[in-house]
Amino acid sequence: MTGRLTALVLLAGLWTAALAFAEAPPETVCIQCHSGQGGRLAAPVEEWRQSVHAANGISCHGCHGGDPTDFTNAMSPERGFVGAPDYAGVPDFCGRCHIGVRQDYGESAHGRAIARGGAQCVICHGAHAVKLARIDLINEQDCSRCHDYGRAGEIKTAMVETERRIGAVETELARLQRLGIATTGMKGTLFELRNRFHRLFHSVEIDKVRHETAGFQAGLGEIDRRIAAIDATLEMRTLWGAGAVALLLLGGIVSLLIRRSYHDEERH
Ligand code: HEC
Ligand code: HEC
Ligand code: HEC
Ligand code: HEC
Ligand code: HEC
Repeated sequence: MTGRLTALVLLAGLWTAALAFAEAPPETVCIQCHSGQGGRLAAPVEEWRQSVHAANGISCHGCHGGDPTDFTNAMSPERGFVGAPDYAGVPDFCGRCHIGVRQDYGESAHGRAIARGGAQCVICHGAHAVKLARIDLINEQDCSRCHDYGRAGEIKTAMVETERRIGAVETELARLQRLGIATTGMKGTLFELRNRFHRLFHSVEIDKVRHETAGFQAGLGEIDRRIAAIDATLEMRTLWGAGAVALLLLGGIVSLLIRRSYHDEERH
């Protein structure tokens, strides 16, 4: 019994340690030295700290390579340091990890026009202050720097409704979970759908976005129906519950009346 308890405590400890590790990667020599430098050498550190990469344990060396434990040889190419990419080198640099996006991007109008100033990953997401991707990344100010906003705006319009419905389904699943209902299956489906949907944008092809949006709407409709079915069952249960209580009450009243009339008869 004590053995099992110790194991549990140990496991809990390990879990907490793992969480702490995921949230705050250890200060590497890269961070230590760059924080002390001025200007463009130090700026990445503070930007990166607020990023989705820092939150997921991807540190400087995850992107730039090098040895994060050796002050003197940290940036030596023999230790895998690759430096900073030039404009056209960025998609491969980021695409090492984001393989699907890299592929869609490569086939897009932006990817094909990269030598003529086509937007690349860093233009839209930044290099160090990378945040969770949201549809707000598509906006008139950022998207009309190189061409007019027309087609960009059309893509956004085609995506907004699906984005809204994904948010609505997320809220519904959270509600069911609070009621103690297992939602893992639906959550998995939604997660997979959300990821495919967020990837779609990079093609920057209005027809493709419109066409595939229909498929996503159908997938969301399927989850909506399952949620509605669960709600209907819950309602039935509540009805049956209320019905049972009413029957019990009725039964109680009837037996009371019978006993009363019995007593009345005895008295006569
Ligand atoms: C001892 C201090 C020190 C350490 C440790 C250090 N750097 Fe640097 N880093 C510098 C200085 C100084 C420069 C600018 C001069 C240069 O490029 O060599 C620089 C430049 C860079 C650049 C820009 C290169 C370019 O092509 O413009 C990157 C990227 C970089 N460091 C990443 C890293 C990473 C990743 C690590 C850890 C694996 C690291 N640094 C460790 C001091 C350091
Ligand atoms: C998600 C990948 C990624 C991470 C993580 C990352 N960098 Fe970078 N970094 C880049 C890219 C891409 C560029 C070049 C693009 C650009 O021009 O902004 C760059 C450029 C730089 C430069 C050159 C800046 C300049 O103005 O010349 C330095 C220095 C640098 N990074 C340091 C760091 C340090 C230090 C960290 C950790 C705190 C870090 N980077 C983390 C992707 C990353
Ligand atoms: C060493 C692997 C690695 C590299 C290189 C890398 N990333 Fe990431 N990136 C991740 C991980 C891990 C996550 C968090 C988990 C996820 O969302 O996939 C992430 C998340 C993101 C997100 C948020 C995704 C979302 O769901 O909203 C964006 C945007 C992003 N990265 C862009 C970039 C850009 C731009 C570069 C290049 C400057 C880059 N990444 C380089 C590993 C990497
Ligand atoms: C750094 C410059 C630059 C920025 C910023 C930029 N683009 Fe582009 N974009 C281009 C270039 C270059 C092309 C290809 C030539 C053209 O069609 O004008 C292009 C083409 C397009 C196309 C046309 C695709 C087609 O063939 O129909 C769309 C749609 C598009 N971009 C959307 C966007 C959106 C959305 C944003 C903002 C999130 C954006 N662009 C930001 C440079 C940029
Ligand atoms: C023209 C602007 C633009 C360019 C260029 C661009 N992105 Fe994105 N990216 C976006 C927008 C907008 C979204 C979110 C769209 C949405 O809300 O569905 C996004 C979503 C993402 C996501 C989250 C979706 C997922 O599949 O996890 C990642 C990761 C990502 N981009 C990485 C990259 C990488 C890597 C590159 C370069 C190969 C790149 N992006 C190029 C604008 C851009």
